Amino acid sequence: MTTAEYLAERRRIIDRVLEENLPAAETQPTSIHEAMRYAVLGGGKRIRPILAIAAAEACGADYEPLLKYFAALELIHTYSLVHDDLPALDNDDYRRGRKTTHVVFGEALAILTGDALLTEAFSWLSRPTGDPGRQLRAIVEVATAIDSTGMIGGQVADLEGSGAAGFSPPAGGLKAAAPLERLEFIHRNKTGKLLTASVILGGLLGNATDAQLDALRRFGRAIGLAFQIVDDLLDQEQTSEQLGKTAGKDAAQGKLTYPGLIGTAAARTRVDELLAEASENAAIIGGPVNYLAPIGRYVCERRS
Ligand code: IPE
Ligand code: IPE
Ligand code: MG
Ligand code: MG
Ligand code: MG
Repeated sequence: MTTAEYLAERRRIIDRVLEENLPAAETQPTSIHEAMRYAVLGGGKRIRPILAIAAAEACGADYEPLLKYFAALELIHTYSLVHDDLPALDNDDYRRGRKTTHVVFGEALAILTGDALLTEAFSWLSRPTGDPGRQLRAIVEVATAIDSTGMIGGQVADLEGSGAAGFSPPAGGLKAAAPLERLEFIHRNKTGKLLTASVILGGLLGNATDAQLDALRRFGRAIGLAFQIVDDLLDQEQTSEQLGKTAGKDAAQGKLTYPGLIGTAAARTRVDELLAEASENAAIIGGPVNYLAPIGRYVCERRS
């Protein structure tokens, strides 16, 4: 199977799991359930659940019974996008090729949609498995990746590092750090940690050995940072139509980005280094079916 075929097939599988497991649009109150389904379904690369599947497969596990746990990652990711697009944050009206959730359903419902998706995700992650010990480790891993020392911390640092209106960070602390150090903190936290948690979730539920978990973590750390550097590059290189989201937003909002800080060529070089590091670690994991390195390459070479 080519990488493109693998990604397309796994994406279809995840789409089906999401479609079947999200509350039906008719569930009361219908407004929130329509908004949740609107935000999650009908777009998105599904890269986080696909990475979890690939990690489990590389460890020799059957991923089929694990799909609902892995799909929960997409609920968390989508919640982060719905909130990221709100007027108080990036103020975006275009996402995944259509209007953002708050534009269609209003700001109050979009906030609640994010809250509901995050809660739903932990309900999916907590359904009993055969190994509660490993499952609890996995849940803590995901929670820590997105808490105030992870994704939310990254989003806060992102806001404080940009010209976003209404934010006047205190002197000292992270704000005083060297720009590249601050930027790496932002990217590793707002994006990298959930991607790392995705491969760890796949590994923990897929019976990875400790050595495989270590390699998965190093793979995730490298690919997680590369993912956001590429997001920065695409924001300035692609059109809104190609991206399905507003291009050129980072410069317009004065965001701290890799191409903005070190230049496009150096940012690409950094991506290449991170891909090499990820690929080395993917090879350590071994496995009967191991698409981790090809997915890493896709992350670095993607056009949207
Ligand atoms: C966009 O994530 C936001 C970032 C964390 C960079 P994706 O590029 O995975 O967005 P979708 O899910 O494919 O729309
Ligand atoms: C988003 O980063 C990170 C999270 C949603 C946690 P960006 O603000 O760069 O993502 P896009 O470019 O809007 O997708
Ligand atoms: Mg943002
Ligand atoms: Mg944004
Ligand atoms: Mg971006």
